[in-house]
Amino acid sequence: MAMTQDEMKRKAAEAAMEYVVADSIVGVGTGSTVNHFIDCLADIKNKIEGAVSSSEASTKLLKAAGIEVFDTNHVSHIPVYIDGADESDHYLNLIKGGGGALTREKIIAGMSDKFVCIADESKLVDILGKFPLPVEVIPMARSYIARELVKLGGEPVWRENYLTDNGCDILDVHNLEIMQPIKLENTINAMPGVVTVGIFANRGADVLILGTPEGAKVVYPK
Ligand code: A5P
Repeated sequence: MAMTQDEMKRKAAEAAMEYVVADSIVGVGTGSTVNHFIDCLADIKNKIEGAVSSSEASTKLLKAAGIEVFDTNHVSHIPVYIDGADESDHYLNLIKGGGGALTREKIIAGMSDKFVCIADESKLVDILGKFPLPVEVIPMARSYIARELVKLGGEPVWRENYLTDNGCDILDVHNLEIMQPIKLENTINAMPGVVTVGIFANRGADVLILGTPEGAKVVYPK
């Protein structure tokens, strides 16, 4: 029987366990792939010090699994961050934020020595942008930023009836073909009112573990 997408996510999550450093604080991302990882982490909870979490949703799951969740301000060293992605290119530049947790994800990715991205094989693409690019904005800047994003050739759509864990809005930008991820990340980041853009290129992943029907496949930046 063919392997489902969820089973591929599970394979990637299981393979990520090898990267967990004993007695350390593990950086934990957000999403359905990470949920599998949290499940695996629960089995070795006595071998780690605890976790830092990129969302209220992951915090809840971690605590339910009996894993201590630390405030990032009380943590100075995170050897490894494990998180999913909506898209990755072959250089391991990512689009993230489909689940709305991009800001906290980018903070923890920045704090961590190594970023291990876990995903099913459908997430690997040649050029980023088919997945609508999430941009978190301060609510009063929403329409202004939307107009600025149109100038860049995008089609921003307000994620209505949704607020991030930080009380902000999300614009999902359709129709972008992201040829220069670092440049676009910097351009959008510089707009006043933007909290975070979901391009992770200045700090992309160091390793990508793809779940495939043949098992987990490790990809390094090209
Ligand atoms: C959360 O905000 C996102 O960045 C997730 O990492 C991304 O949406 C991946 O989610 P799945 O593992 O559910 O595909």
